[in-house]
Amino acid sequence: MKGVEMNTTMFFGAATSAYQVEGWNVFADWWMEEQNGRLPLSLEAVDHWNRWEEDFLLMASAGFTAYRFSISWPRVEPQEGRWDVRALERYRRMLERLHELKITPVVTLHHFVNPYWFYRQGGWLRPDAPLAFQKYVRVVLQHLGDLASIWITFNEPVVYAYHGFLEGIWPPFLRSLRKTYRVLRHILLAHELATQVIREYCPDARVGIAKHLIDFRPAGRGLSEKVASRVHRMFNQDVLDILVTGKMRMPYGREDLGKTLDFIGVNYYMTRTFRFSLRAFTRFFAQEVPTESLYPNTMGWSMDASGLEGVLRFAASYGLPLWITENGIATAEGHEDPVRETFIRDHLQVVRRMRDEGLPVEGYLYWSLLDNYEWAEGFEKRFGLVEVDYTTLERRPRTSFMAYPRLVQDIVGA
Ligand code: FCB
Repeated sequence: MKGVEMNTTMFFGAATSAYQVEGWNVFADWWMEEQNGRLPLSLEAVDHWNRWEEDFLLMASAGFTAYRFSISWPRVEPQEGRWDVRALERYRRMLERLHELKITPVVTLHHFVNPYWFYRQGGWLRPDAPLAFQKYVRVVLQHLGDLASIWITFNEPVVYAYHGFLEGIWPPFLRSLRKTYRVLRHILLAHELATQVIREYCPDARVGIAKHLIDFRPAGRGLSEKVASRVHRMFNQDVLDILVTGKMRMPYGREDLGKTLDFIGVNYYMTRTFRFSLRAFTRFFAQEVPTESLYPNTMGWSMDASGLEGVLRFAASYGLPLWITENGIATAEGHEDPVRETFIRDHLQVVRRMRDEGLPVEGYLYWSLLDNYEWAEGFEKRFGLVEVDYTTLERRPRTSFMAYPRLVQDIVGA
């Protein structure tokens, strides 16, 4: 296995995504739906497109060793086949600066948003969508391939497909199981094509995806266990099985993808509890049972650090190195944020235990560096280690930001 030797030191840092922090991403499908009044306005977001250097210096001041961010496809290819070289140059400067600051970049190529031209043509439902994505990836690798060696093709494909095509809460606001699987199929094919291009330009690259993993729990024995494990299979497992074995099967469609993954990125936030209910027949008889969160949070999620153990053990069963590519909490706290600090401490303790047992957890990236635009939730939900004043866009590191490097040092010894 490539690069599987366990580093004794663990990378640590934070994650962001282009659309949520950059601002004025006016060629994105999401942006157009904002203008249609279907989503909150993102406007200048937190103006990271101009303030990136200040943000990088903050990370360097705290000794972060890794930073995950994404390239905005709509920014790079605002019209089909027209490439914004100046945008690519800016991403290049960002990567160079990260290297100067000794921060390892983890670059995501797709984090939920698409160019509007692509969306208008049918987006991920189209059979040629993987090819369109591959063209974009080629241009990115031509310009940036020498400056990054850890690449994530897609962020949370299942979340993207479910929200947009099954639950109808994100663009394109559809509700169709058939289309959901079609989109996932195309994304998996696009992942394979993208991986080929990454390897072509960057033979030493390590390629992964960021997979949202939920610790699904049964409310009781018997049928509840059955439904919880079914939800686990559909949400957590199927896509990873396909990527790791390279074999796509129904309902995704038959296809051989080859082995494309060098590592698994784990995005972990929550536990969810299900019980069997006949009334939930449209949802495969799985009815969610509300459970208390161990950490008060404004997303209303049930959060419990012990769930990280469950999802890490599951992810480790694939035999690949692991990165925690997102883990974070939105709170109503201001500058002083003891809940966030406790949250991070508890999760790092799980990471420590798992590493001691030999699980290959190589990195931990907190979501998020900054308060930012939380998709359909807008700016209200604050995940940042760094507080952003939305009138002045001033950055103010929270107390958790100050504590974080010491927690990593004390707990994980990285
Ligand atoms: C994840 C997304 C990320 C952010 C966090 C809170 O599912 O990848 O963009 O919205 O949730």
